[in-house]
Amino acid sequence: MKDNTKLIAAGRPHKRSAHPVNTPVERASTILFPTYDDYLEGARSINYGRLGTSSHRALEEAVTVLEGGFDTRLAPSGLAACNMSILAFVETGDHILVADTVYDPTRKFCERFLKRFGVETTFYNPTADKEDIAALMRPETTVIFAESPGSLTFDVQDLPALAEIAHGGDAVLIADNTWAAGYFSKPIALGADVSVQAATKYIVGHADCLVGTITSAHEEASRKIYMALLQLGSNVSADDAFLALRGMRTLSARLERHQENALDLAKWLAKRSEVARVIHPAIKGCPGHPIWKRDFSGSSGLFSAVLKPIELNALKAFFNALRLFGIGFSWGGFESLAVHVHPERHRTASPWTEDGPVIRFHAGLEDIDDMKADIDNAFAAMMQAQ
Ligand SMILES: Cc1ncc(COP(=O)(O)O)c(C=O)c1O
Repeated sequence: MKDNTKLIAAGRPHKRSAHPVNTPVERASTILFPTYDDYLEGARSINYGRLGTSSHRALEEAVTVLEGGFDTRLAPSGLAACNMSILAFVETGDHILVADTVYDPTRKFCERFLKRFGVETTFYNPTADKEDIAALMRPETTVIFAESPGSLTFDVQDLPALAEIAHGGDAVLIADNTWAAGYFSKPIALGADVSVQAATKYIVGHADCLVGTITSAHEEASRKIYMALLQLGSNVSADDAFLALRGMRTLSARLERHQENALDLAKWLAKRSEVARVIHPAIKGCPGHPIWKRDFSGSSGLFSAVLKPIELNALKAFFNALRLFGIGFSWGGFESLAVHVHPERHRTASPWTEDGPVIRFHAGLEDIDDMKADIDNAFAAMMQAQ
């Protein structure tokens, strides 16, 4: 089956005489077993709400099919999916390699939380040569954590090369696949042991709940992930699992439109006199474009633009003049967003040195002409305030 079909068919109720199209929301803490034998059998499947119900199993099944993995477990947020998947593979004395452009709260988790338990992190330049990254490996390195492309400056990583480095040192490669939504990139086929997503973004798609997904490539990874989630008491509400699965049904249609709008907007921005450059991996000439072309089948709605240096007052005027674009964190919903981001604050191995402000845009599903008019108007306000 093609991905478009998988998104419609996977995780649907199995053949029954008459049933709704969607797997119903099954909320539960206690699960009741009619007989002692059923209770024994239940110990091996759905037996307590924290471990999920049929609502969770349906979403897990659909994400597994989309990512092409062995199985999927859910986490209460994308951040929990990233951090718990790292926790599953480390113990005191271990060392991990993490992309310098990783989602910042995961960076903080490594620098602060993992450090307290004696796990050391080295941040690597995500666009460094394979040999330079391999040279950072130590005998005690157990994880390489990549995010491709990074969600502020869209640095595309060479996942097959990272998988080779990881496996050469008995480590695992975990990849954050949120930007591509499991649809435009398949980290597991590229060699990753685990692919994580903030399903909060494109899978949920409506900016109304948080869910994380952790897809393992093989049984060994799956066992460790399961144990970490179980022992940490992780749980996702059945309502949120339902919303995420409902979002998946329209994922391909939405992503195609996000892609089209983002590319159009990025090319339009690149020609504006206020813009120094746009950073969009699917645009020829942008850093990482050759690897994107090799490893991705499309691009989503998130990209950045570096403006020419301006006064803070003028930048404020830009944001305050926006009517359609919301000022907000997160992305992946149906709506357009713009946010001032600060890559210079979050890096150590690959310092960010450009002077102009970086604006991250999320191209929503609105009409492209209205989106451009909104930004055009905001640029006019910016230049007036300058
Ligand atoms: C790339 C990436 N990974 C993970 C997360 C965390 O997701 P959540 O907000 O669901 O915790 C985010 C959130 O912005 C993200 O951009």
